[in-house]
Amino acid sequence: MEKRAELYRGKAKSVYTTDDPERLILHFRNDTSAFDGEKIEQLERKGIVNNKFNAFIMQKLEEAGIPTQHDKIIADDECLVKNLDMMPVECVIRNIATGSLVRRLGVEDGMDLIPATFEFFLKNDELHDPMINDYHIKTFGWANEDEIEKMKALTFQVNDILSKLFKDANMILVDYKLEFGRYNGEVLLGDEFTPDGCRLWDIDTREKLDKDRFRQGLGGVVEAYEEVAHRLGVDLD
Ligand code: CDP
Repeated sequence: MEKRAELYRGKAKSVYTTDDPERLILHFRNDTSAFDGEKIEQLERKGIVNNKFNAFIMQKLEEAGIPTQHDKIIADDECLVKNLDMMPVECVIRNIATGSLVRRLGVEDGMDLIPATFEFFLKNDELHDPMINDYHIKTFGWANEDEIEKMKALTFQVNDILSKLFKDANMILVDYKLEFGRYNGEVLLGDEFTPDGCRLWDIDTREKLDKDRFRQGLGGVVEAYEEVAHRLGVDLD
């Protein structure tokens, strides 16, 4: 597989074209950003940890029947993926209230959410990823009704699979964000699943083991990601 031009440079990953129009390369960089890119730092080893973590999670999801864009790891910090037509929406599920939900609704930080809540956000940094609903998505043509239902169903299935996976490793999956794309008429899970895009707490102490350590300046960010990987049995070598 030949790596060609940089197609897109996101805040933490770069996307490259390849000699196969059906395949792209995702490069996980060490860059770590928060607050719509206002805070950016390089965190040693993060690209490698996230690439291997993502591959592990995507494989678990595939085994459980979730179709994903992930093909295989091709370098320590790179993987090969299917070239999806991405839908510009973010799907967020929350099992515990924290972050923007608490700021928006004034509910108690740390309360259990039963049932888990689902939210759509528009992927648009300039507009600070505003919350949107199904009608906005249909009206503006970001996805059709079937695709909306599929994204919701898959995001909830991922919650069942990963909540159990993390619980068995002594962690709580607090909330997470997924992105989906189209491939041959099918809706596939795209982007990544890493501690950059979810919240994970230790089940006993509720210690934060995710990007909130970076957002809140708690330190030990990559060390926490490595701890999560270690608990799950991800091979980081
Ligand atoms: O992080 P913040 O409090 O601003 O947003 P949130 O709405 O509470 O985030 C919910 C979950 O989605 C968290 O796990 C975030 O890490 C994740 N998220 C993300 O990965 N990318 C975004 N653009 C927004 C949220």
